[in-house]
Amino acid sequence: MRVTMIGAGYDGLVSGACFADFGHDVTCIDKDAGRIAALRRGEIPIFEPGLVDLVATNIQQGRLEFSADASGIGDADAVLIAVGTPSRRGDGHADLSYIYGAVREIAPLLSPTAIVVTKSTVPVGTGDEIERILREERPDAEMQVVSNPEFLREGAAIYDFKHPDRIVVGSDDARARAVLAEVYRPLYLNAAPILYVNRRTAEVIKYAANAFLATKITFINEIADLCERVGADVQDVARGMGFDNRIGAKFLHAGPGFGGSCLPKDTTALLKTAHDHGAQLRIVETVAAVNERRKRAMARKVVAALDGSIRGKTVAVLGLSFKPNTDDMRDSPSIPLITALHDLGATVRGYDPAAMEQAKPYLPDVIYCGSAYEAAEGADAVVIATEWEQFRALDLDRLRCLMVQPVIVDLRNIYRADEMKRANFRYLTVGRPAAERSLETVAPRRRKAGGAKSMTAELAEAL
Ligand code: UGA
Repeated sequence: MRVTMIGAGYDGLVSGACFADFGHDVTCIDKDAGRIAALRRGEIPIFEPGLVDLVATNIQQGRLEFSADASGIGDADAVLIAVGTPSRRGDGHADLSYIYGAVREIAPLLSPTAIVVTKSTVPVGTGDEIERILREERPDAEMQVVSNPEFLREGAAIYDFKHPDRIVVGSDDARARAVLAEVYRPLYLNAAPILYVNRRTAEVIKYAANAFLATKITFINEIADLCERVGADVQDVARGMGFDNRIGAKFLHAGPGFGGSCLPKDTTALLKTAHDHGAQLRIVETVAAVNERRKRAMARKVVAALDGSIRGKTVAVLGLSFKPNTDDMRDSPSIPLITALHDLGATVRGYDPAAMEQAKPYLPDVIYCGSAYEAAEGADAVVIATEWEQFRALDLDRLRCLMVQPVIVDLRNIYRADEMKRANFRYLTVGRPAAERSLETVAPRRRKAGGAKSMTAELAEAL
């Protein structure tokens, strides 16, 4: 089939490359000619595991091309819109100007029987407005507007695309449903359920799903707070809950709060939509508020780990992106955390395997380091803010030698308390009993002039 993606951003690129990989002929169109030229050279503007190779292979095999010129879209069997819907500045509604702008631009070029599919996350009713614009621009035409929301996770987007839990097709039109069935045929041969619903329902499904995931995370985060007070272990609680099929084990990892380009923005946009329609979503309202407060409050753990004050101390933060395997800093929990550490008078050294360039505009005062160990040099505490694979098996002896005092605050619960105790660290987590060692017991190293350098020398000696 001939598939055209409008927008070569995150969703457009991943979906376009995956559709091409299934054997469709795909053209990704973007107004940004510089981006298109870069994509043609094989330069991928986003960090997503596997995407560079997937794009290269499909370009080479002639199934994927990029263009800044939309004049060929009249031939497409399906035109999929995947442009951004960021939060509108000032009021938190989804900003639909890109999507409506794109629809107006492509309207004269579409075939009179085009199937126009919205993949972008859009509030309920957006499909109706797209249909209205198309009718206005092309009164003669018989186009169909379909909602087909995306459920990809950053960092695992290609896997998610190829192994979807479900495909949602929002349209009452038989021809549109048949075209979408054909577009996704390679997937439902793999038994991916395809759910045909009306367009408004599909639009609501996407927001309801993200709001529910946000609720699950926030629920376990609050249970983690309780566990800390009563000496329970939130990971065991999550396991104990998750074996119940009605609950499910996923998205019950306690942490510093959810971030990223989707859950925070989409919960806010859903609340705005509900408000506009006179419906109250009190649970989602609370989730958004609890999550917002939580991220900055994580700094309190660091303060507690350092016996009540971090003024004049150095904190190493490992992981800056909102989750592993992405360089995305949007709404990352590391931003309010580090801002709070700075406000409390600490110096922050930071390291992230992929997101350091993206982090700099958000966090200009961080001292950026070349590795986790470099970040730990001279630090009074190491904070694990993102669970990148490379932080899961740190050389604890090496780390301890580099630090002023051996303190780890693990906001992602990736280590076991007993191994930290054996390695002689004071270890604080989220919702699990701490490896409580007084800082005297763990023998703090004296801060020396030119601390970081001398400690590197000390490590060199130790090695
Ligand atoms: C999310 C949804 O998971 C996707 O299904 C959806 O398609 C996507 O939004 C979207 O709307 O485009 P994403 O934002 O990439 O995907 O990331 P998630 O894996 O959902 O993680 C979001 C945040 O929640 C991260 O900060 C993560 O660390 C946090 N999280 C996630 C937890 O704290 N605990 C968990 O158990 C899971």
